[in-house]
Amino acid sequence: MTRTFIVGGNWKMNGSQSTVKDLVAMLNNANLDKNVEVVVAPPSLYIPSVISTLKAGEVAGQNIYAESKGAFTGEISAEMLKDVGAKWVIIGHSERRHVFKEDDKVIAKKVKHALDVGLKVIYCVGETLADREGNQTTAVVFSQLQAVASEIKDWSNVVIAYEPVWAIGTGKVATPDQAQEVHKEIREWIKKNVSPQAADAIRIQYGGSVNSGNCKEIGMKPDVDGFLVGGASLKPEFVDIVNAQQ
Ligand code: G3P
Repeated sequence: MTRTFIVGGNWKMNGSQSTVKDLVAMLNNANLDKNVEVVVAPPSLYIPSVISTLKAGEVAGQNIYAESKGAFTGEISAEMLKDVGAKWVIIGHSERRHVFKEDDKVIAKKVKHALDVGLKVIYCVGETLADREGNQTTAVVFSQLQAVASEIKDWSNVVIAYEPVWAIGTGKVATPDQAQEVHKEIREWIKKNVSPQAADAIRIQYGGSVNSGNCKEIGMKPDVDGFLVGGASLKPEFVDIVNAQQ
């Protein structure tokens, strides 16, 4: 089956009204590969302005709180993202897991809530350097998949982002073979634990120090169906990453 390549730009907590405007203009003026789905995740405050100005692509939230409304100072809900026109949300990002100490239970609740509300989910998994060095990569990634699997009824609304923690923001990118190996294992896991159809259809992005120099080689691997890009999504080279398959 052919899977539509999907490239996400996770802007994290970066930017200002003026740089966000510039980034959107850059994307609107670029010649982006029409066969690639583009999703950008701006900081929440800028989501409505990006939605109203971005021509090529959809918008994701970077996080939600898994309740519909109420006394949860500082949080935003999946319903609010939906209300302003966002189509996606990133859940389980390594920074949420490690900096904000979100555990599997919290993350599973977010995945369920987001899907129930009708958002699509980019679900992030990935091992630390210690996990990798201890040969625990697949054990960790499988347990992160297991943690949310029972909450997902329709896997077509989910994209998995494999982001090895040691590669995020470090400039230390996984080799194409390292990425392929884990992506293949993830697809096998879905085949065994969900269904062969879901495994065939699910898109698995690679994330972690992706840039214009390394994207082509990684993107050529058979089980790599896109990228989730941090730092480079704030730069003109994001266009080259979107166009990696050309
Ligand atoms: O979600 C994307 C991310 O964590 C990768 O960040 O800066 O290494 O591309 P970066």
